[in-house]
Amino acid sequence: MSARAPEALVLGIETSCDDTSVAVLQDGVTLRSHLIAAQDVHKLYGGIVPELASRAHLELLPRMVEGALAEAGVTPADITAIAVTNAPGLVGSLVVGVAFAKAYGAALGIPVIGVNHIEAHLHSATLEHGEPPYPSVALIVSGGHTELVEVRAFGEYHWLGATLDDAAGEAYDKVAKRLGLGFPGGPILDKLAASGRADAFAFPRPMLDKPGCDFSFSGLKTAVGTALKPHGLPPYPDSLVADIAASFQAAVVETLVGKSMRALAKVGAKALSLGGGVACNRALRAALAAECERRGVALRIPSPRLCADNAGMIALVGARRLARGERSGADLDAAASLEASGLNLG
Ligand code: KG4
Ligand code: ZN
Repeated sequence: MSARAPEALVLGIETSCDDTSVAVLQDGVTLRSHLIAAQDVHKLYGGIVPELASRAHLELLPRMVEGALAEAGVTPADITAIAVTNAPGLVGSLVVGVAFAKAYGAALGIPVIGVNHIEAHLHSATLEHGEPPYPSVALIVSGGHTELVEVRAFGEYHWLGATLDDAAGEAYDKVAKRLGLGFPGGPILDKLAASGRADAFAFPRPMLDKPGCDFSFSGLKTAVGTALKPHGLPPYPDSLVADIAASFQAAVVETLVGKSMRALAKVGAKALSLGGGVACNRALRAALAAECERRGVALRIPSPRLCADNAGMIALVGARRLARGERSGADLDAAASLEASGLNLG
C-alpha cells in the first residue's frame, strides 16, 4: 500500500457507454491528464451497438491507461488509487472497466473504488468551477438520462424529477434519424437549428403545464413525425430540415429551462450545475444563461468535453469518496440500471 493518501493521485476509468476515457487526477482537483476516445464505429449503425462498444473498450483501455500515465508524467507505482464507473450503463461496457480496474489495482496493491456515473455527472462542473454553494441543483441531460437533482452536499442528494420516457439526447438522436441525418443527432440538429425558424412548427412543450419537475420527450418525437408525414420519407429540402430542427430544439430548450427554474425555486438554490452531452447545446446554454442571470443564480456549465462522458468526473467523485475512507471490495460489480446502482437519490 502506498504511503501517500489514497486520494492523492487517482486513476479514473470510464467505460459505461460508447466513450472510453482515462484520467489522472491529483489531490482531487487537478487533472494531470485526461484522454477521451469517442468510438466512431457506431456512426455506421446509426446508434450504439453494445457488443461493439465493449470490444472497443477492451482494445482501447490498456493503451489509454498507458497514454494517460505518460501524459501525466507518472508511473503506475505513483498511482495511489483507482476510481472506475461501475453503474449505471451498458453492462458489457461497464464490466470491461471494472475488471481492468480490479486487476490493475490488485497488481499495484492500491484501493479501487466504484463510482456511480450519474453522481459523477452531478459534480463534473466542479472540475472547472470549484465547489458550488449548497443547496444547488444539477440538470443531467444525456443520451440516457434527463434528471433534475437537488445536491444538498457532496453525497447528499434529493431527486426532483426525471424523464418518464425518452431522455433529451435520445429525442435529439431519434428526431435526427427520422430526418435522415447522422448519429449522434444532437450536435447535427444544434447546428442546423441556427438556420431554421423556431416558430415554423408549434411543437408541444411536454409537461411544462404540469406541476413538478418530471419530463417527457416521446410525444415531442411523435409530433415531429406527424409534421413530416405530408412530406414522405427523407431526404427533405434543407429549409424543412432546418425549420424542424429549430422548432424541435425550441421546444426541448423551453421545457428544460422551465423545469430547471422550477427546481431552483423549489429548493431555493443559488447555483445550477449542468452535465451530460446535451449540455453542449448552444441554445440551451444561452437560454439558461439568460434565465439564471435574471434570478442571480450561478450557472455552472462544464466545457464540452467535461459535459460528455469522461473519466475526469469519475476520478473527482472517487477521490472524494476515498478521502472519506470509502473503498470497494473484491465483490465490486457492474450494474446496468440506476435502481440497481445503489445511488441514493432520496
Ligand atoms: O453524455 P453523453 O456524451 O453520453 C451519454 O448519453 O451518456 O451524451 C450523448 C448525447 C447524445 O444523445 C447526443 O445527441 C447529445 O448528447 N448531444 C447533444 C449535443 N451534443 C451531444 N444534444 C443537443 N445538442 C448538442 N450540441
Ligand atoms: Zn453520461
